[in-house]
Amino acid sequence: MIHGYEFTDKLSNNMSEVKTFEETSVLRDYSVLSRKDFEISLSCYRRLPENALTERINRLRIEKNAVILAHNYQELKVQNIADYIGDSLGLSIEATETDASIVVFCGVDFMAESAKILNPDKRVIIPDNRADCPMARMISAEGLRKMKQLYPEAVVVTYVNSTAEVKAESDICCTSANAVEVVKSLGNKKIIFTPDKNLALYVEKMTGADIIPWEGFCYVHNSFTSMDVNVALEEYPGALFIAHPEAPMDVLDRADLITSTSGMIKWVDRNLDLVAERGVIIGTEIGLVNQILAKHPEARIYPLFDRAICRTQKMIDLPKICWALENEQFEIEIVEETRLRAYNSLKRMIDIVP
Ligand code: 13P
Ligand code: SF4
Repeated sequence: MIHGYEFTDKLSNNMSEVKTFEETSVLRDYSVLSRKDFEISLSCYRRLPENALTERINRLRIEKNAVILAHNYQELKVQNIADYIGDSLGLSIEATETDASIVVFCGVDFMAESAKILNPDKRVIIPDNRADCPMARMISAEGLRKMKQLYPEAVVVTYVNSTAEVKAESDICCTSANAVEVVKSLGNKKIIFTPDKNLALYVEKMTGADIIPWEGFCYVHNSFTSMDVNVALEEYPGALFIAHPEAPMDVLDRADLITSTSGMIKWVDRNLDLVAERGVIIGTEIGLVNQILAKHPEARIYPLFDRAICRTQKMIDLPKICWALENEQFEIEIVEETRLRAYNSLKRMIDIVP
């Protein structure tokens, strides 16, 4: 649960309400901050030139002893200002290793929640509390409880792309990087795998485990088709194809490598000669492709689909980061009992596959 504003679709068209920066940029009472008030408050930051925003962010992060973490799918401008960039789990673990008192999490809400679950003593804030992961919303704790009643003997493995409440109902978590190892570690037990059906089927194929998948999916990766792979390979003949395991099985079947976001970055870093020789088509969200190209501008890296955009990841921008730091919002708060149970699921995973 994220405290902050109550969503209202009555966005203000009347920006004449905006007063001076100091009058309107800092709104300290967030108990009922409407979207309209959020937008009005933000408009001051949006008017600042980029260098002024950057300077302000840099001053605030020192003054407030804050660290800025950015997921691999964030806009490059956000990645460039971050102290750390990484995958969802890597960033949460990074949060445990920093001595900063405020963690500004530039990503979607389940990632910021994981950071809070692992770091209860730190304030974790997300610059826009509408930035959620639609896949994580495809399962509720109640729905999972009902499924557990149907299969009382099954172990529940939950992908980190899930809410704290669903993690709390699970036996163990996994990420796209370690899902196969986590399931292998469970032996021959029947498994309820939530919420991503594509990751579940991939893990089932790799392990032979008896898996009952929850029918969730990522709308970005699930939209990839084997036709996209055909088209890309026609355009870049001989290129290798790397896919994220959230893609459907017919796409994964065509991949030379299936790995997580950080796995893709590491693979490219270690195989630059092969990339130069063959070229590589990347089947994931465009932010990751842009990150690799920013680091290796000459590399023969091509997106499988250049409009594979996670809209909620892109809700975070520099004005919102500056606003969030100034106002120390939107703070992630999790009921302690839920946090503790969710922590156990995450900790079991970290203990098996750090
Ligand atoms: P990673 O855990 O690999 O960062 O992936 C998260 C995600 O949301 C993929 O769509
Ligand atoms: Fe969720 Fe998909 Fe966006 Fe990842 S890319 S945060 S799984 S919607």
